[in-house]
Amino acid sequence: MANHINIAVFLVLCVAWQAYGATVNCTATGAGRFANSDDTTCQNYTLCVYDSSTGTYLSYDYVCPSTSVFNPNTGLCTASSNYACTVTTTTVATTTVSTETCTAEGFFVDSSSSDCSTYIQCVLIDGTYDETTLTCPNNTYYNPNTTLCDSDYECTTTTTTVTTEATTTVSTSFSCTAAGRYANPADSTCKTYYYCVATTTTGIFTEYLYTCPSTSLFNPTSKLCSGSYTCS
Ligand SMILES: *[C@@H]1O[C@H](CO)[C@@H](O)[C@H](O)[C@H]1NC(C)=O
Ligand SMILES: *[C@@H]1O[C@H](CO)[C@@H](O)[C@H](O)[C@H]1NC(C)=O
Ligand SMILES: *[C@@H]1O[C@H](CO)[C@@H](O)[C@H](O)[C@H]1NC(C)=O
Ligand SMILES: *[C@@H]1O[C@H](CO)[C@@H](O)[C@H](O)[C@H]1NC(C)=O
Repeated sequence: MANHINIAVFLVLCVAWQAYGATVNCTATGAGRFANSDDTTCQNYTLCVYDSSTGTYLSYDYVCPSTSVFNPNTGLCTASSNYACTVTTTTVATTTVSTETCTAEGFFVDSSSSDCSTYIQCVLIDGTYDETTLTCPNNTYYNPNTTLCDSDYECTTTTTTVTTEATTTVSTSFSCTAAGRYANPADSTCKTYYYCVATTTTGIFTEYLYTCPSTSLFNPTSKLCSGSYTCS
């Protein structure tokens, strides 16, 4: 009985108009009211209620009335003048970023990387840019002037030396003589290319084998993966 009264009080305090299907994982959040992270208007929230008879959570979706917005700090709908809605869409944690950085084919600074350890590859495929975040080899940093990863490049925003492994395989059948990107002579399909990185300042190179995204092919003239290149 006490449970039912609590739930009733809860619902009255919610000042909500209507309930909808669930958008919050109440098992993960526990009981309470939670903002819907995909709602950029800050008007939608979910009430999670523990049902002790089944040991599970019930969830109810609500929309704050009129122009009011949900304040996740207080768990209440409040006048929009009392709470600044600053929801940013959550970025998916994959190597493909959804921000529209690409305006041309090539390699570009990854503005989300504070230590220059990653960069963005843009490839135009069928009229749409394929955007991939690539990781520089250990202890090298993306130099926008050369579009290469350099061990001696001083990242102006360096905070820490993050050493993430490049998502590539190291080859033994190709020998780098200078930094840069080269067609893989053993690949007649033009899908792969070698990337030679100066890992020390003394002329020692490390070669990495990359595969162009999707249907794109490596153009040895522009030294880029391209959606319009024809392999000859
Ligand atoms: C909800 O969260 C729980 C606990 O974190 C997790 O085990 C479960 O898989 C989640 N359910 C969904 C649908 O994501
Ligand atoms: C907010 O809730 C309303 C009503 O269910 C729904 O139509 C709308 O799509 C929701 N908005 C978001 C961003 O989830
Ligand atoms: C890069 O650094 C990480 C962590 O220090 C290490 O585990 C990994 O083996 C290194 N990779 C290469 C290719 O040196
Ligand atoms: C990159 O180019 C800019 C403009 O030409 C120059 O000011 C800067 O010093 C260069 N940086 C490096 C690391 O070469």
